[in-house]
Amino acid sequence: MLDVRNLEAFYGESIVLNDINLHVPNGQIVCLLGRNGVGKTTFLKSVMGLVKTPKGSIKFNGEEIVKKPTYYRARQGISYVPQGRDIFPQLSVHENLLLGLEASGGNGNIDEEIYELFPVLKAMLKRKGGDLSGGQQQQLAIARALVSKPKLLILDEPTEGIQPSVIQEIGRVIKQLNSEANLTILIVEQYLEFVVEVSDYYYVMEKGIIVTEGFTMELNQEEIQKRMSI
Ligand SMILES: Nc1ncnc2c1ncn2[C@@H]1O[C@H](COP(=O)(O)OP(=O)(O)OP(=O)(O)O)[C@@H](O)[C@H]1O
Ligand SMILES: [Mg+2]
Repeated sequence: MLDVRNLEAFYGESIVLNDINLHVPNGQIVCLLGRNGVGKTTFLKSVMGLVKTPKGSIKFNGEEIVKKPTYYRARQGISYVPQGRDIFPQLSVHENLLLGLEASGGNGNIDEEIYELFPVLKAMLKRKGGDLSGGQQQQLAIARALVSKPKLLILDEPTEGIQPSVIQEIGRVIKQLNSEANLTILIVEQYLEFVVEVSDYYYVMEKGIIVTEGFTMELNQEEIQKRMSI
């Protein structure tokens, strides 16, 4: 579904990603691991067209999108939940969800399925986004990314700063979306147990390059943990 080859990314003159090759097969959950500052978010922004990528290829369902603008990529079915969630604090939960429709150029309806996935949101539709807990905001951000019915959902550190019970809830929803709706998912994560719990395949990034990859079932937790800690 997503096929990234020999990708380089820059901020100004400085190179942040070097020769990245990463593949997300249709129907799978793929995780990108790595410690702080290695370039994980930059990679996701590259996929969304939010940073300069003068070299390399990004194919989505066979189509080259590396030079396409962000809105085009969103309309092709890529939906992105940024790190830190980017909820609009002054807008209500419902208004935040409606923004997800606009981003994709869709019409004005939010499927009931969204509230079935996140019952907590249904109870809080009129509440301001900024008044939700961190975990509820993360659920709102994921729900907002889903209202456009994406083919590929991209999540940047969905467990960051969230209590364990909500992490479990988010993990359950991610697995359900994948198994029942056949949604393909790419997750950046530093929390190894979550990666082991949800993903099929993993990549580990160090300083802008991919250093190891494999099937999650065969992942050696001790070895990966060593690469993740400083
Ligand atoms: N807008 C920017 N302009 C210049 N440099 C940036 C910018 N954003 C990030 N960087 C630098 O690029 C490198 C990679 O940052 P990035 O945010 O991709 O890392 P990350 O792996 O997502 O880290 P974290 O786990 O802390 O979120 C870092 O050295 C960072 O300081
Ligand atoms: Mg990041």
